[in-house]
Amino acid sequence: MRVLVIGNGGREHALVWKIAQSPQVEKIWCAPGNGGTALLADTAGPEADDLEGLADFAASNAVDLTIVGPEGPLVAGIRNLFDTRGLKLVGPTREAAALEGSKVFAKEFMARHGIPTAPFRVFSDPGEAKRWIRGQDSSLVVKADGLAAGKGVIVCASREEALAAVDRVMVERAFGAAGDRVVIEERLEGPEISMLALVCGDDLVRLAPAMDFKRAYEGDAGPNTGGMGSIAPHALADESLIAEIEKSVLRPTCRGMAEDGIPYEGVLYAGLMMTPSGPQVLEYNCRFGDPETQAILPLLGTDLVDLFLAMVDGRLGAARVEFEQGACICVVVASGGYPGPFEKGKEIAGLEDPSTEEGVVVFHAGTSRKADGRVLTQGGRVLGVTAVGSDFDGASRRVYGAVDRIRFEGMRFRRDIGPRVAEYSGGCA
Ligand code: AMP
Ligand code: GLY
Repeated sequence: MRVLVIGNGGREHALVWKIAQSPQVEKIWCAPGNGGTALLADTAGPEADDLEGLADFAASNAVDLTIVGPEGPLVAGIRNLFDTRGLKLVGPTREAAALEGSKVFAKEFMARHGIPTAPFRVFSDPGEAKRWIRGQDSSLVVKADGLAAGKGVIVCASREEALAAVDRVMVERAFGAAGDRVVIEERLEGPEISMLALVCGDDLVRLAPAMDFKRAYEGDAGPNTGGMGSIAPHALADESLIAEIEKSVLRPTCRGMAEDGIPYEGVLYAGLMMTPSGPQVLEYNCRFGDPETQAILPLLGTDLVDLFLAMVDGRLGAARVEFEQGACICVVVASGGYPGPFEKGKEIAGLEDPSTEEGVVVFHAGTSRKADGRVLTQGGRVLGVTAVGSDFDGASRRVYGAVDRIRFEGMRFRRDIGPRVAEYSGGCA
């Protein structure tokens, strides 16, 4: 089989790494990939937002299956385009990807189908939004409707902050047309959990529950980032909680989409908060999470390509998924200054040693590999150093042992990625 993976982050390196383990796969391309995927996959020319170019590439290289990492191409309709060209692709249609592409769509969908989520209002006029906020007592979260590179959600500590958030999104238009409408919802408290499933219509296969660590600094302090690490399985998610999430969120979501005439096929990611009144959906994503995928896939015992094929061929109902016992931790190593301004082009040393150690894999994110074999930093989040252990203590020893052998100027990471943070984290962004 010939496989194309679209994207260039740590998530895509993890996907390429897992796909490369399938005996059915003879060739992989990554569009455009990074310094890590370059060892396992050829680089495909088109960028992730060049949908026509990607379809032409898949057709002319006889690609059997395409997997999309980021949300942008899915929300822009890459699945619809590949369908019209007779090309197989893992991911929802543009209409179904609206679960991530439009917060208004997602909230109205949840309300219609009785899926637990925070009470909310939708506004298209900033004056009205602000009048309504002035009448509220509880803490609020202001969300730009459209895609905003993960920055369109503003969790507010006071009414003043909520008013300022409306100005930022709707008046200053910090996120452009994504801020034409806002969702304003009640602020919830509790630990977060990322539940991912492979979905085909009414059928779904759950992946291991995971958690990402969004804050920049130890102790869950500092600004939000794209993710400073992740763990799987989630330390607080026992079988009964997972079963409850499947029953109250995942299954009704699949059923609801089918009932609404937009059946979902692809990876469905429910971002949940565990509140005293049960799990509530904070957001849907229409793709694998980053960096959750880096912690989930090393535990997956099943051939991922088999699961993808079962999904695109409508056989997911009969598919079985196995996860290994144990725990996985991914520690993101970032450039100095991230998530603020940072320098690129720093040479990374010590990459070979950790990768040869049992249970450790170093996923690349913002890296580039030069012709002479040197690997340079190329983004804010540089590496996702990942280790599996028989428990979190074992995984932690391995992962930080590996991190400590890697060096580049200004490198920065959190030393507290692990299950304990899941307990003390209130989960607030
Ligand atoms: P989203 O882009 O919708 O995933 O939101 C990003 C982050 O904002 C979530 O992972 C939460 O940490 C936080 N968040 C979103 N909605 C709420 C809410 N209603 N209450 C508290 N935090 C929230
Ligand atoms: N880890 C959060 C996301 O992938 O959106």
